[in-house]
Amino acid sequence: MRGLIEKGRKRFIQFFVVLIGIIIGFTILGVRLWYDRTTPVRVVVGEESKNTSMVNITANIPKHWDDVDGEGNPCVGVQYDFFVENHMKWPLVDWEMLITIPKEAQIDSSWSGQFLMTDNEILYRPDPDRDIYRVKPGNKENFGMVLMSDELMVIKDFLLVGYKDAKITGYISFYVLTTLAVFWVLSLAWYVTMKLRTQKLEKQRVKDQKIIVETMQIIAGFIDAKDEYTTGHSSRVSKYATRLAEKMKLPEEQIKNIGYIAMMHDCGKMGVRDNVLNKPGKLTDEEMEIMRTHTILGGKVLQSVTAIEGMLEGALYHHERYDGTGYPEGLKGDQIPLFARIICVADSFDAMNGDRVYRKHLDMGEIIRELEDNMGKQFDPEIAGHMVDMLRSGEIQ
Ligand SMILES: [Fe+2]
Repeated sequence: MRGLIEKGRKRFIQFFVVLIGIIIGFTILGVRLWYDRTTPVRVVVGEESKNTSMVNITANIPKHWDDVDGEGNPCVGVQYDFFVENHMKWPLVDWEMLITIPKEAQIDSSWSGQFLMTDNEILYRPDPDRDIYRVKPGNKENFGMVLMSDELMVIKDFLLVGYKDAKITGYISFYVLTTLAVFWVLSLAWYVTMKLRTQKLEKQRVKDQKIIVETMQIIAGFIDAKDEYTTGHSSRVSKYATRLAEKMKLPEEQIKNIGYIAMMHDCGKMGVRDNVLNKPGKLTDEEMEIMRTHTILGGKVLQSVTAIEGMLEGALYHHERYDGTGYPEGLKGDQIPLFARIICVADSFDAMNGDRVYRKHLDMGEIIRELEDNMGKQFDPEIAGHMVDMLRSGEIQ
């Protein structure tokens, strides 16, 4: 259970870390978008500077002619065509351009925008209803004017200021983050679904287990009721065997199983005649043989139980002795299944700790002495050692 909780916590941290990563990613992307949209594109072209890789500006003079101004003075008429070429990945918007003219001049005519002249500068703003208002990536747009001046001028000083029309869908990281976010949501949905299903199964398992335990307790009640001298024996042996398994640090599943197995260890007594089972005095050899059959009977009854591993062995071998002098098969040492060795110690302790018709219970000192004297004889020394430790510390009384 602790492992499951730990696993759940790890998974939660993983989901949380990925979510934080996605949020940070989108935040960085948002800042980048804001920066790209609000940082002006500033292109200066003149003697000291050149065209940039963002926007290219050129001016052509397709024709010029001799003319006269309004007062009849001779002058030169020049047509200037300007080209703005967008090399950025975003459209160029909200832009205007300051054109520096070398000498005084008058605008005779113009197209594709508004031209505002001040001293030796012309401020150009594109018409909103023309393509030049929003120069798309890779496009080259054109505007122009005719200037009347004293002589032919070459215009080559420009200052363009505009903005990039950046969109979030224009960044590769947007698709990466969106894919990641979709995967995150799907994973979370899958995880929650699995978690709910597992919880449902776990609830059912707990319910089933409760039914098993209650059924076993009823059967153990019958077993103990048949033997009038050992009321509650099966439940107590189950409790002691569980404590021993915990002390031995067996896996959680085995600790749980040993409790069930120990509860059923004497179920074969149901098949032993009452006059033998409840005989007040010492049993004859023949009666002792009958009594001993409860291990084999128990094994037969429990052989069909497959849900709990070791059920049969617990009943069949709990009277085997570590030195090989027990019954029914005379198994020795590690040949005796571990659960049966644990039950043997728990069973013997409960027998010594309870009153019998032919004797009173032993006191704790005598029980400890018996356990120690029989280490390696009746009992597995390690298991008996754990029992002695628990009796000395008062864990079991
Ligand atoms: Fe027994």
